[in-house]
Amino acid sequence: MLNTTLTELRCPKRKKGNHRCLSPLKLHPKMQTRVAATTEIFEVRSGSLECTQCHTRFPILEGVAILVDDVRTYLFSHVKGIAQRVKIEDIPKEYRSEFIEAYDEIKQEHIEEDLEAERVNALYLMNHYLDTSSHLKNSSLPWWKPAQSPASPLVDELIQNYWDRGPFAQIQTWLAQRTENRSPLHTIELGCGVGGLYRALKPHLKSYLGVDGSFASISLARHLTLGTPDRSSLRVPGDLLQGSVSRGTAIPVELDTSGHVDFIVGDLESLPLRSEGSDLCITLNAIDMLDAPENLPKTQASLLKPGGIAIQSCPYIWHEKIAKRLRKLLPKEINDSARAVSWLYEQSGFKIELNQEHVPWLFFKHFRQIELYSVHIFVGRKSSSPIT
Ligand SMILES: C[S@@+](CC[C@H](N)C(=O)[O-])C[C@H]1O[C@@H](n2cnc3c(N)ncnc32)[C@H](O)[C@@H]1O
Ligand SMILES: [Zn+2]
Repeated sequence: MLNTTLTELRCPKRKKGNHRCLSPLKLHPKMQTRVAATTEIFEVRSGSLECTQCHTRFPILEGVAILVDDVRTYLFSHVKGIAQRVKIEDIPKEYRSEFIEAYDEIKQEHIEEDLEAERVNALYLMNHYLDTSSHLKNSSLPWWKPAQSPASPLVDELIQNYWDRGPFAQIQTWLAQRTENRSPLHTIELGCGVGGLYRALKPHLKSYLGVDGSFASISLARHLTLGTPDRSSLRVPGDLLQGSVSRGTAIPVELDTSGHVDFIVGDLESLPLRSEGSDLCITLNAIDMLDAPENLPKTQASLLKPGGIAIQSCPYIWHEKIAKRLRKLLPKEINDSARAVSWLYEQSGFKIELNQEHVPWLFFKHFRQIELYSVHIFVGRKSSSPIT
């Protein structure tokens, strides 16, 4: 993490009654490098953050600050993404032997489908960083076309028509159309994944902090934005006969040395952030992954300054247990997901100002498979006076 990020961070430790500690943190760098010769901005590669109140320590591994309530459980359940990038001897001593055990277990299991898996992150890298003008590495071939066999006309048509019109493009359009105060925005993104939204919105932003639960995604986001090392290959799928990710893409690293942009690991349901510091808080395609989705609008409201804006999008693929929980909270007349989520935001003091239905959101899974979602997205403004 960057030393300049420290002021944004708070202790995520849960206390009695499920309240977060939220005290300021102290940085204990072990290894750090200066970001640019003439500045006092440092990239802390390893070390820890310590709560000034409860003294809980949160590790920084390969530049990734892990700010979660339960570090032990986090390290074991995210062992795949961590072990690929962090040397075993750099795992804090108190967790090391259990970490090795957890690593040995996943080596035998070969589970590919979680958010620490290389292939899943590859799908998001494509979604976030490639557009229809992007090419393969050292080639003029568009990234979705096979070199040796004919391309699927259907896949080609879907990509040409819809790939560049996803949620990022919708937000770019909305921010470009702002007519009121157009000053650059202090921005927080919750569930930022591999971090491509920052690059898409950069001209509109004053600062940006991305938070996600996936270690692999945060490490990739930091690599592509801050130039920090990441050991993964940035490869994407082609023909699955050649392997699950077999082609190199030309995703350029676009270095930001301002000290105003960073990505950290945190839990959306126990955030390590100070309140009321941002103008814009964005959560894309994550509300349906939360155990208590009804808390997300409150969380976004608490991070925003009065009058700030929240953006939320989702294809609303609820787990039945969560849908049942939501049904109990909603008025009887609301029975579709888009209205339900808008209602939750309104209950938290937001006024929905812009709303777009059925924005295409595509994933390229291989030459013969596209995954297509139809996403609801909206902009809500937090009341500028205190909510009574
Ligand atoms: C479907 S992906 C969407 C990623 C990105 N926002 C986008 O739209 O492309 C959901 C993201 O939310 C993150 N996520 C889900 N639940 C989370 C939680 N409780 N805390 C932190 N991140 C979470 C996942 O790691 C994943 O990167
Ligand atoms: Zn604390």
